[in-house]
Amino acid sequence: MNGPLAVPPLSAAGYGVIKHQEIKRDSRKMAREKINYSCNQCGVLSPKWAGQCTDCGAWNSMSEVVSGKVSSHPRFTNYAGEKSGTQIERLSEIVCTDETRIPTGLNELDRVLGGGLVAGSVTLIGGDPGIGKSTLLLQSLTVLSSRLPTLYVTGEESKQQVSMRASRLGLPGDDLQLLTETSIERMLTIAGKEKPGVMAVDSIQTIYTDVLQSAPGSVGQVRESAAQLVRFAKQTNTSLFLVGHVTKEGTLAGPRVLEHMVDTVLYFEGDPSSRYRVIRATKNRFGAVNELGVFIMTEKGLREVSNPSAIFLSRHDEPVPGSVILVTWEGSRPMLVEVQALVDESHVSNPKRVTLGLEQNRLSMLLAVLHRHGGIAMYDQDVFANVVGGIKVSETASDLPVLLAILSSFRNRNLPQDLVCFGEVGLAGEIRPVPNGLERLKEAAKHGFRKAIVPAANVGNKEKIDGLEIIPVHRLSEAIDSL
Ligand code: TYD
Ligand code: MG
Repeated sequence: MNGPLAVPPLSAAGYGVIKHQEIKRDSRKMAREKINYSCNQCGVLSPKWAGQCTDCGAWNSMSEVVSGKVSSHPRFTNYAGEKSGTQIERLSEIVCTDETRIPTGLNELDRVLGGGLVAGSVTLIGGDPGIGKSTLLLQSLTVLSSRLPTLYVTGEESKQQVSMRASRLGLPGDDLQLLTETSIERMLTIAGKEKPGVMAVDSIQTIYTDVLQSAPGSVGQVRESAAQLVRFAKQTNTSLFLVGHVTKEGTLAGPRVLEHMVDTVLYFEGDPSSRYRVIRATKNRFGAVNELGVFIMTEKGLREVSNPSAIFLSRHDEPVPGSVILVTWEGSRPMLVEVQALVDESHVSNPKRVTLGLEQNRLSMLLAVLHRHGGIAMYDQDVFANVVGGIKVSETASDLPVLLAILSSFRNRNLPQDLVCFGEVGLAGEIRPVPNGLERLKEAAKHGFRKAIVPAANVGNKEKIDGLEIIPVHRLSEAIDSL
């Protein structure tokens, strides 16, 4: 062994005799695929890993990234006239082909996708482990495979496990191609030969690329593998499903780092202990966001719930304080959900404001409005608010029901069981209208509700709905008085 290059890289033909050329080729490859460490918080690049980012001070935020080819860096581009492949085109001159929608076999999944699967689109399916991501994929892939060549890559389950599940669920498996592979390079080589129309990777946390040394599931691996998959999907016009587990801690190593790379992000919501599974589109380049798909988990897999408006409604035998029914609007449908509140004397200097399924800051704001415009102070009370069924309500129509539930719990007085409510509360104490007021009221009437406290601007003077007494309110004080 001679010289400083005595220790050959592992990928070289063998230890000992290395030809000069091999070293040269390898070092060139190294220069091309240089590994840096990037901070997930501030994006600073560093050649060395560190437990704390030297720039922004975030802990445990450095992950591996592969630097691009040096020659493609803008610094090396000749701006003075060298012709490149990319050109500027006028918007009107770009030829569009009609995007065709491929039915996935599940109407509720089609609904959240915006009317079916788009060719060449990349869809991320996220959710807690065990919530039903693989079940959903398997059910729709077996349907898709009868129309298009379909490849299901599983890095978590063996082929036998997938096959057992398919036969237990009674799914036809004649056309679905299975692959168990976790190396992204090998997977894409096979997929490149197979040319599937639809491909699913379950899950992205098990996939790794040889380029990086970190363990599968780390931010760097997840990001780099997903980037390669997305590139493959776009170049070959393959519809791609990626499955990602959401960690309880939230962002790190979860599918959150992928959200900007993909076209559509679907998240499983809901209480894992309940049988209902709700899928929400939080990003969709081909359809509306916040559309909900509702399923029920049965022993025969996921079954669609095509009319889900009342599934989260729990009826109490006796009226209870602190509970009111909200008519919320999810995507394109109304839904009746129970809002619960508990107000309890606080024994700490900083009283608790806890929400489940609602926004916490909004609760603090509502309590301030209640104090200033309703004259009811809660500074010595812990306040808890919850939407029953594990569903998340992000729209402002929940403001008024939340306040009424809080008031009901505070006074320990029941609200009528046949009462529904919705409306946004403004900082000036006004009750503001929400979209689709009449449709919400009709849905409530259909389920036997008899009373509705709603924003006055949502119902014209003459609006009448059979069997429903509508109480229009302009201000918070009116709503409180009407009880
Ligand atoms: P799975 O799809 O494996 O979850 P994920 O891929 O999101 O981790 O779902 C597993 C859960 O679903 C498991 O707890 C059992 C339940 N399940 C049923 O109740 N019925 C069924 O038919 C199937 C296939 C699963
Ligand atoms: Mg799974």
